[in-house]
Amino acid sequence: MADDQPLTRVTCTAPVNIAVVKYWGKRDEDLILPINSSLSVTLHQDQLKTTTTAAVSRDFTEDRLWLNGKESDIEHPRLQSCLREIRRLTRKRCSESNGEGNSDRPPFSLTYKVHIASENNFPTAAGLASSAAGYACLVYTLAKLYGVEGELSEVARQGSGSACRSMFGGFVQWLMGEEADGKDSIAQQVAPETHWPELRILILVVSAEKKPVGSTAGMQTSVKTSLLLKHRAKALVPERMAEMIRHIQQRNFEAFGKLTMQESNQFHATCLDTFPPLFYLNDTSKQVIALVHRFNAHYGKTKVAYTFDAGPNAVLFMLEETVDEFVEVVRRSFPPANNGGQFVKGLPVEAATPSEELLSAVVRDPAPGALRELLLTKPGPGPMLVGDPSAHLLGPDGLPQSYS
Ligand code: DP6
Repeated sequence: MADDQPLTRVTCTAPVNIAVVKYWGKRDEDLILPINSSLSVTLHQDQLKTTTTAAVSRDFTEDRLWLNGKESDIEHPRLQSCLREIRRLTRKRCSESNGEGNSDRPPFSLTYKVHIASENNFPTAAGLASSAAGYACLVYTLAKLYGVEGELSEVARQGSGSACRSMFGGFVQWLMGEEADGKDSIAQQVAPETHWPELRILILVVSAEKKPVGSTAGMQTSVKTSLLLKHRAKALVPERMAEMIRHIQQRNFEAFGKLTMQESNQFHATCLDTFPPLFYLNDTSKQVIALVHRFNAHYGKTKVAYTFDAGPNAVLFMLEETVDEFVEVVRRSFPPANNGGQFVKGLPVEAATPSEELLSAVVRDPAPGALRELLLTKPGPGPMLVGDPSAHLLGPDGLPQSYS
């Protein structure tokens, strides 16, 4: 044991994911076991990521947590589940390696307290799901700190269901599993991020007024009250999973895009079938849906596809060749409130001049200021260890750098 080492720090990053076959409903609330399998695309960390530093020291007197620079509740039950699981796996690994030397032991005692700091490179207020990246990053970072390997998606799942899919890059499925203990409810990569280089993801951040009902509470009510959700989970999702995987493997954008839209619409139909109903789409979301359908109708094929989670923001899929023109169409349909200086963020977008014919066919009743910003990204890799020590969010004293 290197007990003379005052502080051990590890920093990692993890991505956000967007589901194209939706997870909605649990069969076990504590272990977070879903009623159906789901599938997502991992978004690139250059645009959206969580960074987490975890540190241990014999000098720490209690476990502590800072989220985006603010001290937060480390006693949160889901966070405690992840910490407990990682510490259990560490103990298991240590006991398994007994007799073969101590090389697998972390260089500190398991009784040492841990400090954790986590921040997003995107504003939480943007309404982009951050819990998936947050828990994936927490679990990956703790695993690196304690030297645990193996089935980590099962641990991340216990933080937030969708987090298990952020443990891999590219195209990822979460198999619902059957076991009561959740051992087979894990995420698997379907294809790596390099599989479909032309695929782009454009996030339309809606200028939302109020925060909608959260996923956890919303899906509980759906499970209790929606027969449509039951039917979907049992009879429809298994076939849709197989279809979606096939479209991805064949890089068939039209089929992928159509099924993605149908999936999103069916998810929102189960929300409406929930009692009392859940409304996640607002007027701007509906205008985006109509715009995408007019654009596709003009070309006579699916060139753009939308999906919406438990909020009004639209996530659009398209091929690289469509981006410049479609962004201009969005700009004409939702003119930016303040001159559009920082309206489009992320990967570069070139200026385009769509034909008058296209504009008159698809742009209707412009809604100025309805979108706050656009963010262009692409499929990206899974969680990563950051080698650069200057990236640590906790200083040598184990406190957030800005506080030290
Ligand atoms: C609509 O993973 O946020 O985004 O497991 O309760 O933490 P908990 O829920 P969460 O739900 C995500 C729901 C969704 C669809 C999806 O990502 O598959």
